[in-house]
Amino acid sequence: MVEKYRMDLAATLKRACPDLEVSTDPAVFASHGQDWTRFRKAAPGAVVFPDSSSQVRDVVTAAARSGIALVPSGGRTGLSGGAVASAGEVVVSFDRMRKVLGFDATDRTVTVEAGVVTATVQAFAREHGLYYPVSFASEGSSQIGGNVATNAGGIRVLKYGLTRDRIVGLKVVTGRGELLDLNRGLIKNASGYDLRHLFIGSEGTLGLVVEATLKLVDPPLPSKVLLLGVDNMEALMKVFASLQSGLELSAFEFFTDRALFHVRRANDLPSPFETPCPFYVIAEFDCPDQQSEESAMDIFDHCSRQGWILDGVISQSQSQLERLWRYREGISESISHFPPYKNDLSVRVSAVPGFLSRMDSLMHEVCPDFEVVWYGHIGDGNLHMNILKPEEMDLGVFESRSHEISEKTYALTREFGGSISAEHGIGLLKQPWLGLCRSPEEIRLMQAIKAAFDPAGIFNPGKLLPEGTPDQ
Ligand code: MLT
Ligand code: ZN
Repeated sequence: MVEKYRMDLAATLKRACPDLEVSTDPAVFASHGQDWTRFRKAAPGAVVFPDSSSQVRDVVTAAARSGIALVPSGGRTGLSGGAVASAGEVVVSFDRMRKVLGFDATDRTVTVEAGVVTATVQAFAREHGLYYPVSFASEGSSQIGGNVATNAGGIRVLKYGLTRDRIVGLKVVTGRGELLDLNRGLIKNASGYDLRHLFIGSEGTLGLVVEATLKLVDPPLPSKVLLLGVDNMEALMKVFASLQSGLELSAFEFFTDRALFHVRRANDLPSPFETPCPFYVIAEFDCPDQQSEESAMDIFDHCSRQGWILDGVISQSQSQLERLWRYREGISESISHFPPYKNDLSVRVSAVPGFLSRMDSLMHEVCPDFEVVWYGHIGDGNLHMNILKPEEMDLGVFESRSHEISEKTYALTREFGGSISAEHGIGLLKQPWLGLCRSPEEIRLMQAIKAAFDPAGIFNPGKLLPEGTPDQ
């Protein structure tokens, strides 16, 4: 029965687009039917590999006509189930759309197909004497289309902003099969609604991104990294304020002693300091001259005298800088096998200490039996809270326990005016709680926007928004 459904689906797609690569291979289903989340089994109906915008349009037109659900798929590094196909959907992979289409030295822009890997854009920018500053641990496999769909953030948001701040043009295919050329690389464009921004962060629910034009920036100045140990959150935020007032920070990240334990064990890293500390900070700052380094040392001394910093080290070479970053960048992978139930919360930066302390008490109250690992981009208020599955616990039981916990953690996040997803997206896993950070009016408008772009409801059903037509 399932097999027949799959064969019919493949035949429908082939009829609509004879040159399209269509796979019904179980190995491809397993690799392309899911992202890095481990809470759903991949069960697509087919996986297609268009190699051009025109093939994407053919797929969308056929899907809209026959009511076939499409799941866009990039590097599949997502952490909210946005690229999971578990109900017979057709996965649209951008693996064959990996061309760099153009570079303009005057505009300082590069135009790429959706399947180009983030690290390829970074390398391309470097080769042309420029810099693409969106950076995160999965940049070696994540694709630009996926970055756009989730408005990817990462470790350099503090200085350079999000993916949204880099996109000056987008080509997208809507649910009607239209190809829209949005903003066309313009810096200024006051001609009405900027539809490009609706697609950024839309998690594949409005249409398929086929091309993006990205604004590049000046190469970064030489930099140094401080790895610091601190005693408590209040002290950590004071250190942040001090560093920010005297240095040009490009990153300010934190992690806890538990996160350090896992990353050290997985990567065989030495203890950074003789005495363990409850919290650690990685701060990177522009350091083009002796004077910047002296300023950093003055701030470090001041913070140490105040008792805010317990221990610290400053990088003395590029290789040491990279070694220090491993303490932060390796954390996610070091806990991935548990697997963790990932929370990607954000509050205003000023609210971070109060929020973390309430959240910590809540965790002790509601799940004293679970290990909770915190880290994140604290300089922009983004905290990753990972609840680790106990080895002996069944995955389904763990997920439902974690859902119960989410009710409480998201309610607290709402009390602080925060968001239940800072950068990973709502996807499939956080969908039931969207109403805890967006009002009913906002959700109704989002549904109406979706209906305008995707009248047949074919794009990523069940992700981000509640299904169905908007209530009046
Ligand atoms: C990170 O900041 O390391 C990434 O967002 C991945 C994660 O949260 O695990
Ligand atoms: Zn992150």
